[in-house]
Amino acid sequence: MNILEFQKKSDEGQKLVVATAYDYAMALAVDAAGVDAILVGDSLSTTMLGRPNTLSATMDEMIHHCKAVAKGTRQALLIGDMPFLSYQGNSRETLKNAGRFLKEGGAHCVKLEWGTDAVASTKLLVGTGIPVMGHVGFTPQHFHQLGGYRKQGKDKTSAKRLLDQAKAFEKAGAFSVVLELVPSDVAKKITQSLKIPTIGIGAGPYCDGQVQVLHDLLGLLPDFHPKHAKAYLNLHEAIRDAVEQYSAEVRSGKFPSQ
Ligand code: KIV
Repeated sequence: MNILEFQKKSDEGQKLVVATAYDYAMALAVDAAGVDAILVGDSLSTTMLGRPNTLSATMDEMIHHCKAVAKGTRQALLIGDMPFLSYQGNSRETLKNAGRFLKEGGAHCVKLEWGTDAVASTKLLVGTGIPVMGHVGFTPQHFHQLGGYRKQGKDKTSAKRLLDQAKAFEKAGAFSVVLELVPSDVAKKITQSLKIPTIGIGAGPYCDGQVQVLHDLLGLLPDFHPKHAKAYLNLHEAIRDAVEQYSAEVRSGKFPSQ
């Protein structure tokens, strides 16, 4: 998958499927399932490293996980998520950090969240040959500014602001935009207004595609069930049961055999 095929698939009316992955084994499985894109999200800060939010993800952590995911990715578009303060305020750092995702991490493109420098950063990266996916609505790197996990665009003014931001990403050359925690009618309007595909999370059914955090899909975190996610498995329980069986067999002498 590349960004042209991504656009083509969407133009043909096919829904795009995106899931996060953070390591080799998970990437192998997610890629084999035939998703269109894999996102190495800065959500790894919460899902893989047990932190309260995404703010503390570092470039080195992102590259470390991205390399592992790249090894397990055969067909999907691989998106590296630029962490907090890796692309804000300094174009040289922005370019260097985005370049690391492609040169070291094996990603095909990067994602960055809306903010003061989003348009300039997108133009700079796209002009350099690094495709950019934008991200508007609830932008987790503004966690403190937005007062926590909150739906965005609930009134007319803020809905219009999100539409303008998404359009600005498109105009700056982004190949796609994530809409996170946005009312579905607002997501529908944005989707109809853009030529590039919108990828929703907590944004209803009208986006051109959907992205989900893998740990939510798999039910891997026992105490975290976001409203917008659907768990297709209770992997936490499955792992616990398997390890309990293993423990019981070791303790009883059933495992290992001669
Ligand atoms: O980091 C992440 O996983 C994301 C998705 C929620 C879109 O940005």
